[in-house]
Amino acid sequence: MYKLIIKGGKTLNGTVNIAGSKNAALPILFASILADEPIKLSNTPHLSDISTTLRLLMDMGGEFILESDGSLSVDSSKLTKLTAEYDLVKTMRASILSLGPILAKYGEAKISLPGGCSIGTRPVNLHLKALKDLGAKIEVKNGYIYATAKKLIGNDIHFEQVTVTATENILMAATLAQGTTTIHNAAQEPEIIDLANCLIKMGAKISGAGTSVITIKGVSNLSGASHTVCPDRIEAGTYLIAAAITGGKVILKNAQHRSMRAIISKLTEAGAEIEFDKTSITLDMKGKRPKAVNIKTSTYPNFPTDMQAQFCALNSIADGQATVTESIFENRFMHIPELTRMGAQFSLEGNTAISKGVKLLTGANLMATDLRASASLVLAGLAAQGTTTIERVYHLDRGYETIEEKLKLLGADIQRIQD
Ligand code: UD1
Repeated sequence: MYKLIIKGGKTLNGTVNIAGSKNAALPILFASILADEPIKLSNTPHLSDISTTLRLLMDMGGEFILESDGSLSVDSSKLTKLTAEYDLVKTMRASILSLGPILAKYGEAKISLPGGCSIGTRPVNLHLKALKDLGAKIEVKNGYIYATAKKLIGNDIHFEQVTVTATENILMAATLAQGTTTIHNAAQEPEIIDLANCLIKMGAKISGAGTSVITIKGVSNLSGASHTVCPDRIEAGTYLIAAAITGGKVILKNAQHRSMRAIISKLTEAGAEIEFDKTSITLDMKGKRPKAVNIKTSTYPNFPTDMQAQFCALNSIADGQATVTESIFENRFMHIPELTRMGAQFSLEGNTAISKGVKLLTGANLMATDLRASASLVLAGLAAQGTTTIERVYHLDRGYETIEEKLKLLGADIQRIQD
């Protein structure tokens, strides 16, 4: 088990290269199941969730090659096993994204139910209902989803709640369905646009991705394609806060400001000076203490739940009182007790965290509980006086590529050690 040791109080300054988006790369890797040829992917992030997905695809008969130019060639065109086993699925909920593609291409799939998750119950009922609306027969027994459909048939799908991965699952399944599928109340995240763009390169007929209504005309087969994964807006937002929380300046390369409007607007409200062009974003805090900002998480294009914990860290040392309301997941405040152990002042009222900013946090021994909560603890550790130790770093490795190396380049005193 690895730990991170951070000696806080350094002002961060410098340039960071933002990796490809985890939440775009994962569905695109699963989309390779739909193709009859390999998919060539560039800008795939080096993350444990990506390795888990590749292991899952290999377990089902897929193959991959890391090309000399750094791209990943994935051939999942001829699966020999149509089962996603519990041992792999339990470590990554996004494995449910194998269901739509396997069922659409092979007419049957057996996928382990992902199980509980520390940030909420996260059921998959909306995935299953929408696949049933496309004509699938679905049974859940012994912890597995058994799905069959000789041929999926296009239909009107109405999601009663906006859901990112269910939108992606149905989008992928509908590409090989017979006839037209229209997804209503679809999620509008930039990662869905990236997935749709890759599917279109593979020969899919899709319009409306990035809006609340997506239309897919089914085709009989999909080919290979080359695709570059879009930048990770959550990683980018986390490094912007690393500079803001330490009063520093950061230049992000390979970042896309267009998909980060809600995050940039809140950081500007907190007192940061932000400039951007097509592929880079610069944040300069000019040594100032941030102002506390009120936040309410919602679906895209509103403020993302995946940045909520990081803004709690920022608010904990900011000037003033603020409320952070979590409206997507029911149990996403596990970072609050840990931040409190560093001297932060929070009270929790239902799904709202109320902070009263303190001038200084102090280093402490902390436990990472989930991916984004862990990021908030790293940010707090960077700002705190003294040494912070963060255990269970594997949560961070799911979503942040070489986080300590990137932070060191900005001047942080951070080390990874093995127990
Ligand atoms: C995705 C992202 C995750 C992000 C989340 C919200 C990926 C791999 N993960 O997760 O990083 O935090 O979107 O932006 O892209 N729900 C149901 N039934 C379902 C599906 C969802 O009740 O069948 C509920 C969930 O419990 C949650 C809400 O809908 O309360 C939204 O969840 P959803 O958008 O589906 O999140 P994920 O796709 O799992």
